Amino acid sequence: MEPNTALRVATRLWREPQPHSGAALASQLGVTRAAVHKAVEVLRERGFTIPGTAGEGYTLSHVPDLLLAACVLPRVADGALGWGGWEHHHSLESTNTAAGQLARAGAPHGTVVVAESQTAGRGRRGRSFVSPPSTGIYLSVVLRPAIHPAHAFRLTVCGALAVVDACLKVGLTAHVKWPNDVYAQGKKLCGILAEMHADMERIHHAVLGIGVNVNTPLAAFPPEVASLASSVAVLLGRPVDRVEFCARLLEALTTWYNAALTDFPAVVAAARARSMTLGRPVAVLDGEQRYEGLAEDLDDDGALLVVTPDGTRRVVSGDVEPLDGVGGPSRAGR
Ligand code: BTN
Repeated sequence: MEPNTALRVATRLWREPQPHSGAALASQLGVTRAAVHKAVEVLRERGFTIPGTAGEGYTLSHVPDLLLAACVLPRVADGALGWGGWEHHHSLESTNTAAGQLARAGAPHGTVVVAESQTAGRGRRGRSFVSPPSTGIYLSVVLRPAIHPAHAFRLTVCGALAVVDACLKVGLTAHVKWPNDVYAQGKKLCGILAEMHADMERIHHAVLGIGVNVNTPLAAFPPEVASLASSVAVLLGRPVDRVEFCARLLEALTTWYNAALTDFPAVVAAARARSMTLGRPVAVLDGEQRYEGLAEDLDDDGALLVVTPDGTRRVVSGDVEPLDGVGGPSRAGR
């Protein structure tokens, strides 16, 4: 999909901070000067501060705290996830639902749907995901991986690792609570919901939904969530640049996704190192079944190996709760 002119102008201004004349931008982008002028006006209306005129040259001095393509993508390498297409909404029921609809209508690989808030954010096992406005990242990516449906779980692993990486970029050490939550200092910061449309042999598309509490104040969580969840900003004790966090998340997700297609054992090795589950006594809830054991390792597919009195069980789905509390990294993640 051809990025629009406003995105292309924002990208030039962000990446090359010197003043750009309207004429130079028009010739670099292969559009008219009027189109550049219009794009600058559109960006200004959306909250970008762009001092200057076409004659003296435009610069970019402020990017709004909105998860628009023109805010996020200039900071993300060309070709990374997100450059395939971008839909931004102030409010949506669920970005996963919207991305699924787009995917069924043929949206290309790498299309991102992002919302400033969700009114019916969905979690795993029918749970909801609290998504207050303009503080978190609620993002779903359309993926068209050439992998067997049995390996779709790999996408979830990539999402969790990408969030851990983005946290580290802003100075917060976080860990993966197998299979798909990210925790720091014993609090949940992020949940991941992967959904797919597949037949027996082939994934037609997958939607990887990632919700991260970035600047969410504790008061924004309902009481039943408040004692379990936190946000990156609360744990760091300072606000975080949400646009930058989103950019780092997408770049890391692209890296892990590409690794998952070519060298999944390397991804599993990273998941082991960043796990808060391994080495712990855990309770596994899989459908109606509940059992306890020691979370020993991940196998080459990223499945959790739990040693129980009846032998080692391979867990590929379900909830896994550490029985010694979720207060810190596991033996493997320390
Ligand atoms: C969980 O905690 O069980 C998973 C939560 C996943 C939440 C994200 S937010 C973006 C995307 N849209 C949704 O409705 N859900 C995912």
